[in-house]
Amino acid sequence: MKKIPNQMLIIFGASGDLTTRKLIPAIFDLYKDGHLPESFAVLGVSRSHLSNKEFRDKSIWKSPFLQKAIAKQEDDFIKTFAEKFHYHDLGSDYDRSYDDLAQKIAELNEQYQTQGNYIFYLSTPPSLYGTIAKNLNEANLSQENGGFRRLIVEKPFGYDLESAKKLNETLHHYFEEKQVYRIDHYLGKETVQNLLVTRFSNSIFEPLWNRRYIHHVEITNAETVGVEKRGGYYDKSGALRDMFQSHLLQIVSLIVMEPPISADAEEIRDEKVKALKSLRIMKSDEEIIKNTLRGQYVTTQIEGRTHKGYREEEGVNPESTTETFAAIKFYVDNWRWKGVPFYVRTGKAMPTKVTEAVIHFKTPPHEVFMSQDAFRKDNKLIIRIQPNEGILIKFGVKVPGLGFHVDQANMEFYYSDLESAQVMDAYERLLLDAMQGDTTLYARADEVEAAWRFVDPILKCWENNPAVNTYGYSVGTWGPRNSDEMIEDSFGWRNPGDHLTDETGFCILC
Ligand code: BG6
Repeated sequence: MKKIPNQMLIIFGASGDLTTRKLIPAIFDLYKDGHLPESFAVLGVSRSHLSNKEFRDKSIWKSPFLQKAIAKQEDDFIKTFAEKFHYHDLGSDYDRSYDDLAQKIAELNEQYQTQGNYIFYLSTPPSLYGTIAKNLNEANLSQENGGFRRLIVEKPFGYDLESAKKLNETLHHYFEEKQVYRIDHYLGKETVQNLLVTRFSNSIFEPLWNRRYIHHVEITNAETVGVEKRGGYYDKSGALRDMFQSHLLQIVSLIVMEPPISADAEEIRDEKVKALKSLRIMKSDEEIIKNTLRGQYVTTQIEGRTHKGYREEEGVNPESTTETFAAIKFYVDNWRWKGVPFYVRTGKAMPTKVTEAVIHFKTPPHEVFMSQDAFRKDNKLIIRIQPNEGILIKFGVKVPGLGFHVDQANMEFYYSDLESAQVMDAYERLLLDAMQGDTTLYARADEVEAAWRFVDPILKCWENNPAVNTYGYSVGTWGPRNSDEMIEDSFGWRNPGDHLTDETGFCILC
């Protein structure tokens, strides 16, 4: 691994949920695994009024998200970690003097010898991204004179195509594109990265990876939880913006893309952009209504217990039509994929937590073995992104005995079987990459815009066309019943985990 230069991480939104829940545990893991540079400091910036001690208590010593990890370590080890953390109050609108902030950064730079290398992490409400970038620029904090200056921008990156373009323009005013790191934590997942390796380091898959052999592609992202405490944010967002435009289209781009000429960040990103640009944009409302479906979980009784419906959640408009489930069927207009349908669905309050991509291969062209079963079961390559990360191939084998009866067997690989397997948390991996200046797993400006370009007409149609229904579905089900009708393939959606084999229930074989 490259030596990581000394540096300072400045987190805007430091007293927020994401910082406590994800960022600080990721920084702690980096520290524990010896990945932090010799000299490193964190400056938390937020609108709360906190002392250094209060910030350290909240985000480290008393953080519910670190208790398990710190319980295993000596106090001195944690103390040394906590001492790297400082806090600066920027006022209720993040508008207190940026010269004071610059002064504070300069002092810490001196104290910790971070050599003028700064990463600014924007984990604030997105409406503040532009203002913060502008203020950083005016305080001479964006110019790379002496050390590097990088800006990590959390999702959502824009609200639609127009706002995403505007945000790109604003950021480019103050930072160069090479300084901007648009984070999508799905790209930090080992299994998402492994899509590239599975495809491009094996010669057995790539020859089949096209319209001649693939019948359809299916991607499912399901969560058991509802919107929890994020109703206020979610009601203005919905599943299409929250999951599909970002995480799921990233997975789509890795499945669709052509082989890059090297593993260089720009080569990979170029191919991903081309892939996103080749998604067929749905033009008419009629086409959108036919190929998309939105749903919302409703109040449900399960074994005598009432589970809240979306409209009863805190912060949600009681008449909201915002979707907590979305299913989209689309095509990719290029040589490789012409005519192959892609089915992607995502939902909250579903039966299990799972994300997987399934490549369904065509059945053999000629029926040699008369077993009906063989022809009801296509070959599948299942890429399990989470949990129980792994890969499974389903293929036909002869049932021992007379005749030629065919049944399906599985060949499977689980990450957990690797002796050296220590799957890094997505945020840990992405932070480490940003610290090393590696943009491969961050989205480029044109990539984000290409994803919005595909999603925008669907959003507009859903929002403006009164003929678009939001269908209800019960908590703990696979979404509205009519989502089954969308998947024209006679096998329907693969509902993983419907045949659970153990308590944790994430058997990839199911
Ligand atoms: C976030 C979404 O980006 O991803 C959440 O805003 C969602 O709504 C989360 O729950 C899912 O992430 P993961 O890693 O748990 O699949």
